[in-house]
This record gives sequence, C-alpha cells and structure tokens, in this order.
Amino acid sequence: MKTRVIFVGIGGATCSGKTTLAKHLRKILPGSVIVHQDDFAPPQELIPMHPEYNVQDWDSAEGAIDWPRMIRTLREVKRTGIIPPEHYSHDHLNEQRDVPIEQDTFRRWHETFTRIQDEREKEGEKIIWVLVDGFLLFWHPEVIELLDVRMFLRVPHDVLKKRRNERHGYHTAEGSLWRDPPQYWEQIVWPAYVAAHSRMVEGGDVEHGQPNGAVPDLILIEGLEMKVGAMVERVCARLEEQ
Ligand SMILES: Nc1ncnc2c1ncn2[C@@H]1O[C@H](COP(=O)(O)OP(=O)(O)OP(=O)(O)O)[C@@H](O)[C@H]1O
Ligand SMILES: [Mg+2]
Repeated sequence: MKTRVIFVGIGGATCSGKTTLAKHLRKILPGSVIVHQDDFAPPQELIPMHPEYNVQDWDSAEGAIDWPRMIRTLREVKRTGIIPPEHYSHDHLNEQRDVPIEQDTFRRWHETFTRIQDEREKEGEKIIWVLVDGFLLFWHPEVIELLDVRMFLRVPHDVLKKRRNERHGYHTAEGSLWRDPPQYWEQIVWPAYVAAHSRMVEGGDVEHGQPNGAVPDLILIEGLEMKVGAMVERVCARLEEQ
C-alpha cells in the first residue's frame, strides 16, 4: 500500500490554543500523529541569554529551536509516516485545561475522515496526517515548505497574555519547570512573536493584518471569534479537500 503523509501546520502565538486544537484533530483524524515544535527546543543550558534583559530567551526564533534537528525529523516523518523512536516528547508533562467540543462535531467529522480513509485504502493509498503544532512554524523556509496545509491561529494580545499568566510554567526537555520571570511577556515573549510573524501579514500588523502571501496559502483563523468547535469545523472542512 502506498502511504501519503500530509503535514498540517498549526501555528500561532504561545497560548493561542494550538495544542488544544491539535489534540481534537488527533482524535478526529484516523491515522494521525502530533509533532510538537516545543520538543525541538535546545537543552536549557544552550538557550541564549537576552543581551539587554539578562534572562534566557526561549522565544526568539534563531535560538529557541534546534532547527537542523527539527527539519531532519520532519523530513524523516514525511518519508516514513512514523515519528522516529528516538524522538522524545515532553508534552505530557505540561498541564492542559480541557476545552471540549460538541459531541456531534466530533462524531460527524470522525465518520467523514474514517470513510475517506477507507475509500482511499481501497484505492491502495493510506493517509497519515501529521499535525505539526508550533509557535514558530512560519519562520524557517524549509519548515514552511514541508507543510502541506498552513493554519495560523490568531488570538488578541491581551487574551494571550492573560492565558500565559495563568499558566504555572513550562516543562523543559529535561523535565524541569520554567516559570516566566517578571516582565518576561513584555520583554521577551511578545517582541519575539512580533519579530517572527510581522513579515507575513500586511503592514507588519500581527494583530490585524491579513496574510500577505509571504507564507504561501496561509489560512488565518481568528481564534477568539470562534469557539474550539467552530475552529475544528473550519479546519476539517479544509482537510477534507486534501
Ligand atoms: N478556544 C479556546 N477558548 C478558550 N480557551 C482556550 C481555547 N484554546 C485554548 N484555550 C486555553 O488556553 C490555554 C493555552 O492553550 P494551548 O496549550 O492549547 O495553547 P498553545 O498555543 O499550545 O500554547 P503554547 O505554545 O504555549 O504551548 C489553555 O489553558 C487552554 O485551555
Ligand atoms: Mg502548546
């Protein structure tokens, strides 16, 4: 049987709801796996210091991700449809408040994609959906190119900041807990987000600008206008076309 691996990129700022959305899709799409970009962060001792604020900068694109490792792994997943066994995910360590969707939404789409999977298998093709969840998904040209579908989840600044502040911290790859120092949002997180995303929206306006084509076929999803269920509907309708 031929395998077709489809990469679905779910990008957006920290706390925009990427992982929440990806986990709903994981349950809906038969034969799907999630790749979390967070798992490609370098070990804590290699995270660069911010030159001005003298804190570790987990967010600026250049230093926040081990790009060669991420690209190598993505290429392998694309080729094999399997996450290599040596790849370790620490996602399970992170707290995640459940944001449920309507049972009907789940059931309807699950049936649709199960049917699609069955039909394709009769034609000799197995589909594997790879949900790539990342806060810096549209920065590196090779990563952008590897994604077959590019979704950008956008949530207003104040909502992001509030959600981030409610979070107790982030587990590093080594398992220790990182807590944001005071002013970390203003000094590090938000400026790094703006720097990595302004080139892909009109006027460089990450809050209101429409996609400007710098990232080809970018689909903007305004997170706050939609409940998670509506987001799932929107994404599934798009994936049905693949
Ligand atoms: N659509 C939504 N409506 C309300 N709350 C949400 C929604 N999506 C996610 N949340 C909440 O926001 C918080 C962050 O969500 P999530 O972990 O999915 O974000 P993320 O984009 O993966 O963030 P990070 O990049 O920091 O991992 C969680 O507490 C989650 O329950
Ligand atoms: Mg996440």
